Amino acid sequence: MSDTILELNNLHTHFFTDSGEIPAVDGVSFHVNKGEVVGVVGESGCGKSVTSLSVMQLVPSPPGRIVSGEINFKGENLAFASEKRMRQIRGNEIAMIFQEPMTSLDPLYSIGNQLVEAIRMHNKSSKKEARLKAIEMLDLVGIPRASEVVDEFPHQLSGGMRQRVMIAMAMACDPELLIADEPTTALDVTIQAQILDLMRDLNKEKDTGILLITHDLGVVAEMCDRVVVMYAGQVVEEGTVREILKDPKHPYTKGLIRSLPNLHEKEQKLYSIPGTVPKVTMNSVGCRFAPRCEYAFDRCFSENPALYETEDNRYARCFLYDNFEEQEVATHVGTDSRS
Ligand SMILES: Nc1ncnc2c1ncn2[C@@H]1O[C@H](COP(=O)(O)OP(=O)(O)OP(=O)(O)O)[C@@H](O)[C@H]1O
Ligand code: SF4
Ligand SMILES: [Mg+2]
Repeated sequence: MSDTILELNNLHTHFFTDSGEIPAVDGVSFHVNKGEVVGVVGESGCGKSVTSLSVMQLVPSPPGRIVSGEINFKGENLAFASEKRMRQIRGNEIAMIFQEPMTSLDPLYSIGNQLVEAIRMHNKSSKKEARLKAIEMLDLVGIPRASEVVDEFPHQLSGGMRQRVMIAMAMACDPELLIADEPTTALDVTIQAQILDLMRDLNKEKDTGILLITHDLGVVAEMCDRVVVMYAGQVVEEGTVREILKDPKHPYTKGLIRSLPNLHEKEQKLYSIPGTVPKVTMNSVGCRFAPRCEYAFDRCFSENPALYETEDNRYARCFLYDNFEEQEVATHVGTDSRS
């Protein structure tokens, strides 16, 4: 597909720990098209952050490492690209914002210094011009007293303000892809809505593709075109926002949606999926969701399900859809090579 900017193909990122090898990202495949907002959802520990860090080659190493697979960015496989190449990509063609912006802002430099540097990397301008542009951008992302804040340091700003600075930085880079990992989780609801609006503006005005990582399906419903549902290191379902929210196929996705408060107002008590995400090892056998799944049957505990076609262009990693074994979609995106 010519307008695909990012395509993950059977990506495996493992952690090599004292207690063994952990396949945190275990055969993940999905893509993001130009100008598209794709959400990656799943509970804590599902591998969302490790997936996004893999794209930027920022997985803490050791103990983590991309073991195999492809990360095609505009046709170039970044999975094993050199650090020199990645430095050109990061903050230029791909920008990333994290839950806690302090991890990406340098505490020793003023906001203005960091923004000016980003601006000057992208267009030839004098320091003075870049500073004016920096103030303009801070203003644009809703920072009050922008001409003063430009000389302040990250620790002098609130979390919401720091996140706005990160978005201003991302805008300065004019990236083709923005990866936002829980960008609003630490913020209160009003600020959260404002930050999401800013991201949407960036998407609409510059056609920036956005990979939005969140555990919040409410945010997905508001922001995304498509959703990738992850569970225990694997993609278990993928579809348009409408398909996933209206007609989820995988029992895990059904559970996530049932636990959304506003969609089920009649329920007195908010549903939550019983149990927790299991620790996956190289020897894990069976469907990873089986211990928590109300539909589980014998086969689920002894075999790892592939992605099965549920209907036209819909896939779920669940034996409930294995009606036509001979039509099993072994090569479809997201299929684990070992499944
Ligand atoms: N530094 C590390 N060392 C060992 N294992 C790790 C490390 N970081 C992550 N993992 C493993 O990777 C798995 C996925 O972690 P990840 O941070 O991607 O989860 P997540 O989906 O982003 O969760 P959250 O919603 O809490 O941010 C963890 O459950 C853990 O097993
Ligand atoms: S394969 Fe079995 S355990 Fe896994 S989600 Fe489907 S029904 Fe549930
Ligand atoms: Mg995370």
